[in-house]
Amino acid sequence: MSSSKPPASPSNDGFAKGLTQYGDRGFSLFLRKAFIKGAGYSDTVLDKPVIGITSTGSAYNPCHGNMPQLLEAVQRGIMLAGGLPMPFPTISLHESFSAPTSMYLRNLMSIDTEEMLRAAPMDAVVLIGGCDKTVPAQLMGAASANLPAIQLITGSMLTGSHRSERVGACTDCRRYWARFRAQDIGQEEIDEVNNQLVASVGTCSVMGTASTMACIAEALGMTMPGGASPPAVTADRMRIAEATGAQAVHLARQRLGIDQILTDKALENAMRVLLAIGGSTNGIVHLTAIAGRLGYEIDLDALDRMGRDTPVLLDLKPSGDHYMEDFHHAGGMATLLRELKPLLHLDALTVTGRTLGEEIEAAGPGFRQDVIRSLADPIYPQGGIAVLRGNLAPGGAIIKQSAANPALMEHEGRAVVFEDAADLAARIDDPDLDVNAEDILVLKNIGPKGATMPEAGALPLPLKLARAGVKDMVRISDGRMSGTAFGTVVLHVTPEAAVGGPLALVRNGDRIRLSVKERALQLLISDEELKARAAQQKITPPTGERGYRKLYMQSVTQADKGVDFDFLRATEQRGKLPRT
Ligand code: FES
Repeated sequence: MSSSKPPASPSNDGFAKGLTQYGDRGFSLFLRKAFIKGAGYSDTVLDKPVIGITSTGSAYNPCHGNMPQLLEAVQRGIMLAGGLPMPFPTISLHESFSAPTSMYLRNLMSIDTEEMLRAAPMDAVVLIGGCDKTVPAQLMGAASANLPAIQLITGSMLTGSHRSERVGACTDCRRYWARFRAQDIGQEEIDEVNNQLVASVGTCSVMGTASTMACIAEALGMTMPGGASPPAVTADRMRIAEATGAQAVHLARQRLGIDQILTDKALENAMRVLLAIGGSTNGIVHLTAIAGRLGYEIDLDALDRMGRDTPVLLDLKPSGDHYMEDFHHAGGMATLLRELKPLLHLDALTVTGRTLGEEIEAAGPGFRQDVIRSLADPIYPQGGIAVLRGNLAPGGAIIKQSAANPALMEHEGRAVVFEDAADLAARIDDPDLDVNAEDILVLKNIGPKGATMPEAGALPLPLKLARAGVKDMVRISDGRMSGTAFGTVVLHVTPEAAVGGPLALVRNGDRIRLSVKERALQLLISDEELKARAAQQKITPPTGERGYRKLYMQSVTQADKGVDFDFLRATEQRGKLPRT
């Protein structure tokens, strides 16, 4: 006999989460199940914990070229742990296939990730990312969506060999290109090098932004232990993928949300690690954006203080000599975190449900290796990144001191100014350019609004100086630099020139003083002169005519706010970090 009672309202788990609204939840679930059954699923399977997997494979993204193998391993882990894997696509970003810049698109990927995590039913999600902007975009999106989440890194590429010299993207790309520009090597050799720099799929093999974000993700407690370092094509990487899938099911069962992992302590641990690995300067921008999604501001001066007692321990290019696969063979993050123990919050929770301290203990005692130094014998005595202030950067600027030339870190010189990237391209190789090795190269209008913040801050040395053997000069801009680059390069000058920051007021021939010791960046003109120039200056910040560009130009924040969109940051403020 049929009952006249209406069906009970569906629970809020699994496939009943986030139902499409038809005004009748029971009908919405009925319809959803009918459609998914069209793909051959049974009721038994649909009752399992649902684990979403962001699939970011793309023919345009060789850094994610192992996505099919990763997906297979993650799904195996999920199913063996009793869950239902549901891979779905999101935007994928590769540095070399993202015009005008990948930074312009990072926030779009974070919105895509956040909204798909909200729209599709899942009890937990595996975020698969690797290339520079993908991991921050996924962590930003997942932090805002606030559900159980675990990060899987695609892994680094293998190194290649050029005439018996070990090479890898992309510190060696820059080094060889500089030699080619200086006519030290010819066309034939640069073509040969081009075949060897990227020896397999995977992310850049040095401590660039991708490797930095992989280490940060593990330090945040967002990956399985040891998840940062296995190269993309190794069995270790696939085992991590399988374990990640299994752990995602446990996260779903325990309802361990990302807000319990991405805490103030986890963010401070990540900052320590960024400083100790000689990490990419982009890491600060991304960590600031992730923290902003959780209601935290990054206090750049406090970060600088943290850097003064956080030495660089990792001997990886561009600050050192090794590559990511060497870091992995040296024990990866467990070896680094063990050394950093006195400086970390060991009680920070990780996705395993255990604390960071417990995971360090579980990794064992360590062994002899020559990639990760001890606190007593660092590769560089302070953190890799220093924060500069002065009348040229009232909102701050940064320099990667561990990859800079010590002889130029206390320097005063004459400004040679380029108004924007086009001006730089037009004149930098002009034999008549009035420039010498002691000058300071200033590039304006490559900030977040000026040019969507390209990695153009390590501007090329003028050809005539490069050919004369000059290897480094002080360079200043409101742009970014690749984590794989090196040199005495001041970045992220805030506020940027395009919104009327003092950088816009620098003129050819002005004198500028850089003192990394005093953390000072000073335009050596009087306050009156600076004010008079500002009064004369007419600034019209760029606007986008339509579409995403319009949204970007209306909403993008400066570097000290993570270049996130203002409306994506958390509405509730929880204070400044680091508190140490
Ligand atoms: Fe993808 Fe370097 S281009 S990590």
